[in-house]
Order: sequence, then structure tokens, then C-alpha cells
Amino acid sequence: GAAVPFYGTHQAGIVTPAQDRLHFVAFDVITDKRDELIALLQKWTAAAARMTAGKDAGSIGAVNGVAEAAPDDTGEALGLPPSGLTLTIGFGPTLFRTAEGKDRFGIAGKRPDALADLPKFAKDALKPEISGGDICVQACAHDPQVAVHAVRNLARIGFGVVSVRWSQLGFGRTSSTSRNQQTARNLFGFKDGTANLKAEDTALLDEHLWARAGDGADWMAGGSYMVTRKIRMVIETWDRTSLGEQEAIIGRNKGEGAPLSGAKEFDEPVFSTNGSDGRPLIPANSHVRLAHPEMNDGARLLRRGYNFVDGSDGLGRLDAGLFFIAYQRDPRKQFVPIQTRLSRQDALNEYIRHVSSGLFACPAGISGTEDYWGRALF
Ligand code: HEM
Repeated sequence: GAAVPFYGTHQAGIVTPAQDRLHFVAFDVITDKRDELIALLQKWTAAAARMTAGKDAGSIGAVNGVAEAAPDDTGEALGLPPSGLTLTIGFGPTLFRTAEGKDRFGIAGKRPDALADLPKFAKDALKPEISGGDICVQACAHDPQVAVHAVRNLARIGFGVVSVRWSQLGFGRTSSTSRNQQTARNLFGFKDGTANLKAEDTALLDEHLWARAGDGADWMAGGSYMVTRKIRMVIETWDRTSLGEQEAIIGRNKGEGAPLSGAKEFDEPVFSTNGSDGRPLIPANSHVRLAHPEMNDGARLLRRGYNFVDGSDGLGRLDAGLFFIAYQRDPRKQFVPIQTRLSRQDALNEYIRHVSSGLFACPAGISGTEDYWGRALF
């Protein structure tokens, strides 16, 4: 139930040990006025600092104001602890320049090269109405009510300046981001997050996670780029697939999560080991083989995704899958090449479909009360 510090060098919610619940929201900015956007970002930052500390969104609170006015907090988190709430903001390509080419806020020149639109990948089935967005906020907490409360209050405060484009609830983190966490399982039943970048790997984080001043956009130093992909899983087909086939598709065993070349979860996969049939123990088209840094010029990601079940789809199937979130220093060198390879060759593709996509620049952390989300941009 404890609070995660809001202020710091980096934004919370990236290497913070992944909480249990997610409410992710993408907003469109509906004003063209730069000062209105800045004023909102300042109000949001103050509300985020309060809510992550377990307080009401506004200084008056849900029930202490005058009877004639709408409260400055919606009230559903009254009495709940901070629950590890983190709020992480990101800025999408369209904030810098709209799809029509308009530089609404005078920041087009600040768009980082690394925030290059993602290419279309093989088999993409993206729905525009649940993709993209000018600004995103990733709310993570151990209590879903606390995460939802935070997103709801940010949307409320943003009335007239932003509108919610899409949002996604998630449960059951599918990645560990710290060595102190047990590896959780995704909806295919496999441990997910074993070979993830972890908070303790500080040298690797400097190399693969945090953007640097020399990278091209100085205002992003200490920040990171976020890619989101809503990936529908064809659960029912997967559930009729044999255990051996499932393990061959992932390249790890289901119980222990060990690579098929080893015995223990954290054994390094050895792709050159062949079985008695002369074929590699870890199949060449398996997910971990194709996603592994060895296949991708050393590229790594910090994955921080969640399971989702949005009810069922009217055809008797669960509308379920993985809301994939990955942080990195430069998507052009990390997510894009990895997903290019996966989208063409991954044996998993028969069982998954990418239905939404997002790309956001998440700046460094907030230094103190005088600082605000996005200050370096304006
Ligand atoms: C590893 C599942 C999508 C990148 C894994 C592992 C599982 C898994 C079970 C092995 C355990 C681990 O190391 O975490 C899935 C499922 C997906 C999916 C079910 C879709 C529904 C993706 C996507 C990417 C990706 C879209 C990136 C483009 C990786 C990477 C690894 C990994 C980099 C670690 C590989 C290694 O170094 O061994 N995934 N994954 N995954 N996945 Fe995925």
C-alpha cells in the first residue's frame, strides 16, 4: 500500500517494480492554445503529485468543498492507501505536428528523431480509434480502483483542453522489472519477463533504456521512449494446442520457464544445442529465439505489459490478450527491428493479432514542486 516517490531523476512507473494493475489512457489535445496546454500540464503535475501520495486530486478534496460546486476529487479513492500508484506521462508524435502537418504549439522542432512513426508491420490489424494519441498517461497501482481514480481525475481536470481518445485496463503484470519480483505469467500460461531488463541492471539501463543528451533531443535526456501494442490472443486455439507445440512456439518450457536448451528459468538460452533429431532444441522460429538480443544486434527492451480481458467478443471467444508496453532509448534501434523480425517469422503469430499501437516520448522525472510535466518542451 506504500507510496512510490513522484519526484526523481527518472519518471516513476518505468523501472518501478511492476505493480499488479494498469489503467492506460491516451488523450487528444483539443485546443490549439499553447498556454492552455501548459496550464493543464501544470495542473496535472500537481494532481499527480497528490494522488501518488494517496491524497485527493485537489487541495480541497472530495467532500470538504462548498455544496454548490463540483468537488475537486471524485471520491472513489477516499480511505484507500497510495497502493504504489505511479503516473507516467508520454508525448506522441501528433503533439509535435498534427497528421495534417500543423505545429499547433510551436514545438515541431523539438520532435525527437527517435520518435519516428512506427512502420507498418506484417499482419498488423491496427484500429486507428484505439491507437496513437497526443499525450498518454500510464497509471499503475496495486489496486485497480486507485489507478482508475487517477485517470478519471486527470480526464476531469483536462475537460475542454483534452479528450480521452482511448484507454485500456490491465491486470496481472506480464513482466518483472526487478530481480526481487517473481516472474508472473501471461494468458498463454507462460512466465513472461524472465529475460527482461531489470531495475538492478544499471549499466544495461544506461545503454538500452534512458535517452541521453547526445542522442538528438536534449530535452529527452533521462527519459525513455514507450511503445504500446494491444495484442489480442486467440486463446481458444492456443488452448487446443499441445503442450509440446506451445513450448516449441515460445522456446521455453511452461512449468519452470527454462529455455528448451536448459533446466532452470534463468539459464542462458543456448541456440546452438541440437536435439537427437539434429534440430536445435530452441526452434529457429520460436519467440525467444527471434526476440533475443543475439538476433537483433544486441537490442533489448524493458517490457512492462499487462494482461487484459475486455469481456467476450459476441462470438463466444474471450476478448483477451496482452497489452504490451516497452520502454527503450531509441525505438528505431530496438522495438522496430525486433518487431519487424517477429512479425515475419514468429511461430506465435498464428495465435496473436496486434490491434492497437502507440508511441510516446516520456521525458525525465519531475525535480520538485516548481517543475511540471513537459516543462522541457516549452
Ligand atoms: C520473451 C511472450 C510479444 C519481445 C518472451 C517470453 C514469453 C513471451 C513467454 C519468454 C520469457 C521472457 O523472457 O520474458 C509473449 C507473448 C506476446 C509477446 C505471449 C504476444 C502476445 C512480444 C513483442 C515483443 C516481444 C511484440 C517485441 C517486439 C520479447 C523479448 C523477449 C521476450 C525481447 C526476451 C527474449 C530473450 O532475450 O530471451 N515473450 N511476447 N514479445 N519477448 Fe515476448
